[in-house]
Amino acid sequence: MVAQAIRNIISPKSVIAQYQKIDFSNKGTIPIRHLNIGFDGKEIDIEFYVNNQFATLFFATLSVFLTYGEDLVIETARHHREFIQDPILKQRVTSLIGQEAIHSKLHNEFNDAIKELEYPVDFYRFLGENFFKYVFLKFPQPLKLSLMAGIEHFTAVLAEYMMKHEKNFYYTDDAKSRALWMWHMLEESEHKDIAYDVYQVLNGNYPLRATGFLMAFITILGLIPTATLFVPVLRKPQEMLTKKFWKDARRGVNLIFSPKDGVFGSTIGQIFDYLRPNFHPNDHDTTEYLEYYKNKLLNEGGAIAPYFVKEFTPPVRAVS
Ligand SMILES: [Fe+2]
Ligand SMILES: [Fe+2]
Repeated sequence: MVAQAIRNIISPKSVIAQYQKIDFSNKGTIPIRHLNIGFDGKEIDIEFYVNNQFATLFFATLSVFLTYGEDLVIETARHHREFIQDPILKQRVTSLIGQEAIHSKLHNEFNDAIKELEYPVDFYRFLGENFFKYVFLKFPQPLKLSLMAGIEHFTAVLAEYMMKHEKNFYYTDDAKSRALWMWHMLEESEHKDIAYDVYQVLNGNYPLRATGFLMAFITILGLIPTATLFVPVLRKPQEMLTKKFWKDARRGVNLIFSPKDGVFGSTIGQIFDYLRPNFHPNDHDTTEYLEYYKNKLLNEGGAIAPYFVKEFTPPVRAVS
């Protein structure tokens, strides 16, 4: 019986058969939104996140590295889209690709702008580019698919946390950084189940899914925080001699990692929920938050509205 249970967990066939029955037409359409923010380094607030420089530098590091993660998601999704038989899921993958392409573009513009704040953009871009080029992008496609689903789980958890802590984006007057992150979080939550569904439809192997999760975990909660630790050293080492710096750093670490209310510290249970064999991203229902934020941010007077250009929903095409 135990052996059978284990077989059920790791057997791709059982997962694929279960997914064959899913009616993707019940899922809403996802638009690809174009934004024009126009960052200016002089306007970017170095204490954007809850009046804290260290936490803001963490998000800046995330911004640099996530563009490579997004490029991996785009490449992997494009490759696997060809094998999807369900026309709605296929359309959703096109939306995922489109949203991630614009995230990557705008974060790159933001990253160019933070050079003005003496953030070591070029050095971290060099590290990110080579790490992805020589490690992640060399993986076989099934592992890349699993990694893509793992990365998307982390962005979904982050998005849910941010939607539940809206006020954290309003400590600052920097409306452009706020628009970037709130728009990005909204869309990460909007498309949070697509990569996972593609993984389950095309592969479904549990150990491989756990491996992709582990790699995303090491990157997002290991490499990115480590890289952040070196930013003050590379940026303004003289600041590290002040008491103010260490006070800010301690508070920043808490803002990200405190088990009580930190971005990743307080969501660690939800992060590991991904390892539950019958996990699905929609087990964590964010529909109400999404509706609230879409109305609040995109309508006139909303944080995203001044930068919104147009949106486009990919058509559903019959699969030949
Ligand atoms: Fe994204
Ligand atoms: Fe995403």
